[in-house]
Order: sequence, then structure tokens, then C-alpha cells
Amino acid sequence: MASQKENSNPAVVTGKSFTAVAINTAAKAGEWIKSKLGSYGQLSLKTSAQDLVTEVDKGSEKMIRNLISTHFPHHTFLGEESVGQTEEEKQEAIARASEAEYVWVVDPVDGTTNFVHGFPFFSVSIALAHKGEIIVGVVYDPSRDELFVAEKGKGAYVHGNKMKVSRESELAQCLIASGFPVDQQKTLPPNMRGLQALAPQVRNIRTSGSAALHMAYVAAGRLSGFYELGLNAWDTAAGAILIQEAGGKVTDTLGNPYRLSTRHTLASNGIVHSSLLEVIKQADAQG
Ligand code: IPD
Ligand code: CA
Ligand code: CA
Repeated sequence: MASQKENSNPAVVTGKSFTAVAINTAAKAGEWIKSKLGSYGQLSLKTSAQDLVTEVDKGSEKMIRNLISTHFPHHTFLGEESVGQTEEEKQEAIARASEAEYVWVVDPVDGTTNFVHGFPFFSVSIALAHKGEIIVGVVYDPSRDELFVAEKGKGAYVHGNKMKVSRESELAQCLIASGFPVDQQKTLPPNMRGLQALAPQVRNIRTSGSAALHMAYVAAGRLSGFYELGLNAWDTAAGAILIQEAGGKVTDTLGNPYRLSTRHTLASNGIVHSSLLEVIKQADAQG
């Protein structure tokens, strides 16, 4: 077991690197989640009929928290299932986490609706931020056994292969992804306006139900862009560093640099970023 005393290299605690812990933890949680497919126990609603949580989400978060705190007991932990459910509580928790020296930002199951329906597109998302800057990100897809990992300044990899964002330069060549936000009053209508405006301009749109995995796919060059309003740090933090380290760009929908407090998210290969921003601006779809 790693000792609690950190040595002079901030990325290493007595030999167990932050990245190694993130990878091992995501892989273990992902395997466990997969083993629970089809037997998730009790299904509860959170903020709406579209916002689901199961015993598996809670169990996965507990497992992740325990594994991380074994190695880094003094680090702060921000997990989706451990914060309150009102918007204010979520934003407050994220704002506090942004100030922590080291904070692990965790979505224990991103794509719970898919998990509940047996649709194999869900992931575990784990990021580590140092004073608000993301330094490690891991997204694990247990259905395909694909682990996406990035470390600040060291590139992004999937199964040991370096990832590079796509090279498409015209919207008409771009496959992009989005989602349907669970807040049907405030966030869904502008997001729909954005989709309506984007659909005729891009090659096609996918809304597959895991923001973290969509962002990993942008990093891997499988998608050229991702747009969704009303997300939270646990959905996007790991994906953001994956994309940046693969050469892409992540901002809010006004074009400001991505931060843990960013909610309305636009990610791309960088080349089509300004074109995507312009379409959603013209459509009054910035959120
Ligand atoms: C959801 C997924 C989905 C996105 C929703 C998120 P959850 O996360 O990322 O793709 O459209 O906005 O809330 O609830 O499955 O962790
Ligand atoms: Ca999520
Ligand atoms: Ca979740």
C-alpha cells in the first residue's frame, strides 16, 4: 500500500502514480459494473423521470472512493452520487472542489439510462485536478474493454495507442455527438435548437447517452465534435483532458476555456471549433 507521505515529485506518491491509480480504479469499477448488468437492484429517480440512479451507481462510487483514498487519503473527492441534487448544491460542491489542492472528480457510471436498459454504451469517468487544473483523465468503457487515458503534457492513449483528434475541416464532413439534457424546462429547449441547427450542416449526429464516452471518442478521432448543455464536472473533466492531449479543443458554448465549473460544453478537433460555435450562437443555443 502507498504511504501517505508525498515525495518531491507531485505526480508520484511512493511509486504509485496518480495515473496508475486512476487506471486501476476505473478498470476495477468498470468490471464490477459490467458484472451487474441486468441485475442493478433498486432503480430510483433523481431530479426527473429521465434522471436515474441505481445501487450500482452508488456501489461503484463507493468502490472508487475507497480505492483512491487508500492511496491518497488527503485528497479531496468529488463524486456525482455524494453531492446534493439541487443545482445550487452541485455548483457549490464543484466550486469548492476547484479550489482543492488535489481533487478526484468521478462519475461512477456515466450513462446510467443505458446501463439500466442494457444498452452497452456507458463508462466510468475519473479525473484528477490540481488547484483546478486537470492533470489526469481516464474514461473506461467496460462493454468494449476500452480504456482511454491522458496525463497533462504526456498525450492521450487508448490501449497503448496514441490518440489524435480527427482532421475534418468542414462541418459537412463531421460526425458529432450530443445529448438530451434531463432538465426539460431550462436546458433541453436550447439544446434542441442547437441540434436542429447543426443537423443539416454536419454529416450526422449521434446521441448515445454517455457524455464522457462521447468526449473520449472525440479524442480518438471517431467524432469531430461534441455539444451538450447543462453537464457537470464529473461528466466532462476526464473527457476534457483526453481531448486536449489528443490535440483538440474544449470550451464552454461562448468559447471560454474549459474549467471544472463549465456546464454548457463544446468540444471538437479544434479545426471546426469556431464553425460549431457560430452555428449554436446563430441558433440561440448556447444555454
Ligand atoms: C448523463 C450522460 C448523458 C448526458 C446526460 C448526463 P449520467 O450522465 O452523460 O449522456 O446526456 O446529460 O447526465 O446521469 O448517466 O451519469
Ligand atoms: Ca454523467
Ligand atoms: Ca453518473
